Amino acid sequence: MSKPLVAYVNNSFVPLEKAMIHVEDRGFQFADGVYEVVACYAGTYLDLKPHLARLQRSCAAIAIDFPKSMAELEVLVQQAYEKNPFDDAMVYIQVTRGVAPRNHVVNQPITPTLVITVRELPKPSDAKVKTGVQGITLQDIRWKHCEIKSIALLASVMGKQEAVRAGVDEAFWLDAQGHVLEGCATNIFAVIDGVLVTHPLDNQVLGGITRNMAIEVAKDAGIVVQERAWKLDETGLSECLMSSTTNAVLPVCRMNQQVIGDGKPGEIGLKIRQLMLAKIDALRAA
Ligand code: PDD
Repeated sequence: MSKPLVAYVNNSFVPLEKAMIHVEDRGFQFADGVYEVVACYAGTYLDLKPHLARLQRSCAAIAIDFPKSMAELEVLVQQAYEKNPFDDAMVYIQVTRGVAPRNHVVNQPITPTLVITVRELPKPSDAKVKTGVQGITLQDIRWKHCEIKSIALLASVMGKQEAVRAGVDEAFWLDAQGHVLEGCATNIFAVIDGVLVTHPLDNQVLGGITRNMAIEVAKDAGIVVQERAWKLDETGLSECLMSSTTNAVLPVCRMNQQVIGDGKPGEIGLKIRQLMLAKIDALRAA
């Protein structure tokens, strides 16, 4: 039998089915918390430090005292990975403000809750890589601090539900002017006249770690990158790509049932994907 799943909850590792949080945890009562999802390939993490640094920034943004030092957190993540049965894993880290009688204002010092769980890293199907994913666009209904990786994901859950209802993979948020911001759990890029374009980092998008990696490999490959607002109907738009920790980048070939470019994964997107996968393979071999 394979090893049972184990979670880290407030200073101890416990079997996942016994991992419990108090009903008055502010994460449960108010979504008063932040999170991270990190990929680990055969024991080597993809950008662990940038993920933990973003977690620290998210905590600071909502004035949660980060519960551990970076070094301690790295050790806990590694222990959580080792105690679970997956070679390629997705490590989920969540920090909430802690437990207190339900009141918007916290009147006493409380200790933040820290949870780490580990699951098998989901892989995009070959079909999605070959034929591309499909998306829909929705008016952005989220709050005004999307740069914080908040656990308040109701809008994303609703967006994903709409995507599923429409028989597609992801829903992408549009601002009031129709600019494409990001997906429910992904960043999005377009290739416009050969230039890789993505919305600049502001309060309307999460600074995706995979977004950074895609930009970096693209620049290294001599592809021009522009961080600017863009729309789906721009002349010269030939490809779209979405990025996230669990997908690297994937081509988006249809949006709102209309083909993007020629409806097939494009050259630039495939190149970026191939370069990112090469980096991941190098990690796996390390
Ligand atoms: N989501 N934008 C949003 C709104 C996201 O939720 C995510 C990630 C991303 C991509 O970020 P990164 O490249 O750092 O994974 C962009 C995670 C994976 C999730 O909620 O499961």
